[in-house]
Amino acid sequence: MQHVQEARPTSAEPEAPTDLATMPAIGSPYRLGAALLESLAQEMSALAEQASALLRTPPESLSPDADIVAQIVRRSVPRWHFAMLNDTERNEALVTALERGIPAGATVLDIGSGSGLLAMTAARAGASRVFTCEMNPLLAEVARNVVDAHGLSDVITVIGKPSTALDAGRDFGGPVDVLVSEIVDCGLIGEGLLPSVRHAREHLLAPDGIMLPSAARLYGKLVNSEAVLKLNQVTTVGGFDVSLMNTLATRSHFPVRLDTWPHRFLSEAAPVLEFDLARDALEPGERTLEFLATADGEAQALVVWFELDMGNGLVLSNPPDNPRSHWMPGWVPLEKPVLTKAGETASLRLRWSDFTLRVSL
Ligand SMILES: C[S@@+](CC[C@H](N)C(=O)[O-])C[C@H]1O[C@@H](n2cnc3c(N)ncnc32)[C@H](O)[C@@H]1O
Repeated sequence: MQHVQEARPTSAEPEAPTDLATMPAIGSPYRLGAALLESLAQEMSALAEQASALLRTPPESLSPDADIVAQIVRRSVPRWHFAMLNDTERNEALVTALERGIPAGATVLDIGSGSGLLAMTAARAGASRVFTCEMNPLLAEVARNVVDAHGLSDVITVIGKPSTALDAGRDFGGPVDVLVSEIVDCGLIGEGLLPSVRHAREHLLAPDGIMLPSAARLYGKLVNSEAVLKLNQVTTVGGFDVSLMNTLATRSHFPVRLDTWPHRFLSEAAPVLEFDLARDALEPGERTLEFLATADGEAQALVVWFELDMGNGLVLSNPPDNPRSHWMPGWVPLEKPVLTKAGETASLRLRWSDFTLRVSL
């Protein structure tokens, strides 16, 4: 089956390009700006309609089967949560890492509760108190119910807030001993790993506290795939040049189940990013990447995958040759294609923000 799937996650930053200065001009950029605003207004008005329908619905009839509930759930809780929770390789690595890495009696903060899995694992591993925060209020409520159903509400507190809104003194009576999180997307940083860890390290974790994961790396390879290119780019259709549609193409990384599409790697793998989560600044930046070409061809993207260092030799990863992982590899479109020649080095410029990866010549 060939498919791309909703990225993990796109909610933190909009997928559609919003930087008018860098967009190809369609007529006047002001018209494009106005169209962006109109599109946003449409979305907000749909939300407002849902909110007022919800206000008219008696609370006792809010079952998961109610249309209004189903619509809101679909809108706010990404479907990949199910694939993720069924990814046994991921779950086993995380459970083992927490069992080995959390000292008995430690206090723990888990960023991103989801179902409550890591918080419950931390409690079972011997933590004395576990605080888990979830920025999605619906998920936070479900996590609270899951924790309660396991009789763990005395040990685990679910806080329905983003970690960056937490205060160590107010929310947990002082900095915690251990920080755990699994907030990475196919391209490592798309779920906000950098700003979340940056904030937590400074404000929520005790000095010399334990971090799981402790380091994160991103690798990449140059690739050619006309098929994947066509998922995000158009040229001529029915004799008409519709390439101005590419104004709306995704410029940052997105997930692609690469092994289901014809493709050709054009370089060896090389490091793209590396973060020591306890020590590095974890700020946006840019750097030059070098790839040793293994074939002549036209590279259209960098395919990326991460490694998360979970301590005690445990590594969580989503390489392109692992179709079992619910994380697909990431496709980072190149601004312009790069011609490769076997044996020669191709240089690219990588710019990363708090959430996105962009590659140019
Ligand atoms: C990939 S899921 C993992 C869920 C769970 N920890 C697990 O491993 O099964 C990450 C969750 O973290 C939440 N999240 C991401 N960044 C967050 C932050 N800074 N503060 C609170 N929640 C966050 C997302 O809403 C999402 O539900």
